[in-house]
Amino acid sequence: MQGLTGKRVIVAGGATGIGAATAERLTEAGAAVAIGDVNLERARETADRLVAAGGKATAIEFDLSDDRSVEAFITESAGFLGGVDGLFNVGAEMTPAVFKNDLTAIDTDMEIWKRVLDVNLLGYARTIKVALPLMLESGGGSIVNTSSGAAFNGLNNRVAYSASKAGVNALSRHVATVWGREGVRCNSVMPGMVIGETQKRMNHHELHAEIMSRIRSPRLGAPSDIAAIVTYLLSDDGEWVNGQSWNVDGGLSLRD
Ligand SMILES: NC(=O)c1ccc[n+]([C@@H]2O[C@H](COP(=O)([O-])OP(=O)(O)OC[C@H]3O[C@@H](n4cnc5c(N)ncnc54)[C@H](O)[C@@H]3O)[C@@H](O)[C@H]2O)c1
Repeated sequence: MQGLTGKRVIVAGGATGIGAATAERLTEAGAAVAIGDVNLERARETADRLVAAGGKATAIEFDLSDDRSVEAFITESAGFLGGVDGLFNVGAEMTPAVFKNDLTAIDTDMEIWKRVLDVNLLGYARTIKVALPLMLESGGGSIVNTSSGAAFNGLNNRVAYSASKAGVNALSRHVATVWGREGVRCNSVMPGMVIGETQKRMNHHELHAEIMSRIRSPRLGAPSDIAAIVTYLLSDDGEWVNGQSWNVDGGLSLRD
């Protein structure tokens, strides 16, 4: 992949899973990364591992649901990196207390709706609000927002999560439309079932088996499968991809 050496990338929510795998791939390709997360301990572990392997990385504690925290995180990241060329928004509200109570449109409490939208959608709006002007200052850049197949699937539960991810797709298209001519690209990646440590912990064997029965590829996804696409979108090789929402799901979204 071309055009990643020396790129300065912020990974918002990259302590574990897809974010951590992407930070690893970025540093392997010569980019520098600032990894932000509510889980500082795990973000530090990830950053330390990348530094030990010869990469440039740091970990910063922040909360996607807090305006000031996001502003401080992006500012500190830009200071560490010396500017901003890329932003990968990947954090999401996945705590069991919220996840298990995100049900149907009748059964889901407004507090659950508010929390999910605050982190998953407004969180990305917050990081973009602060990072985008910095990108414009340096002549442009690439933003990748993490959506989900749930944005389109019409799931029978997880109404707030699905709506938040549909909003993320609209946010990406908006940014591409308004700032594309100034050199800013903004795309969404929509993972299918990707088994990272959070999914292993959730232990949803029945769901995994059901997805395996429909997926076109011979296996479920790994964080590295999504990291490969995000890294491409952040690289100069992805220069003509703008405003798109890409399914990366082993063909799960195909219909019979
Ligand atoms: N794994 C899948 O099957 C799958 C499928 C579709 C979409 N996604 C999306 O991929 C992204 C990454 O998920 P993952 O599977 O790697 O899970 P993960 O739990 O490993 O990663 C999510 C990260 O977000 C962080 N986070 C949570 N709340 C935060 C907050 N308020 N502020 C800052 N950071 C916060 C967590 O600490 C964690 O590091 C999420 O946006 C998720 O919705 C995942």
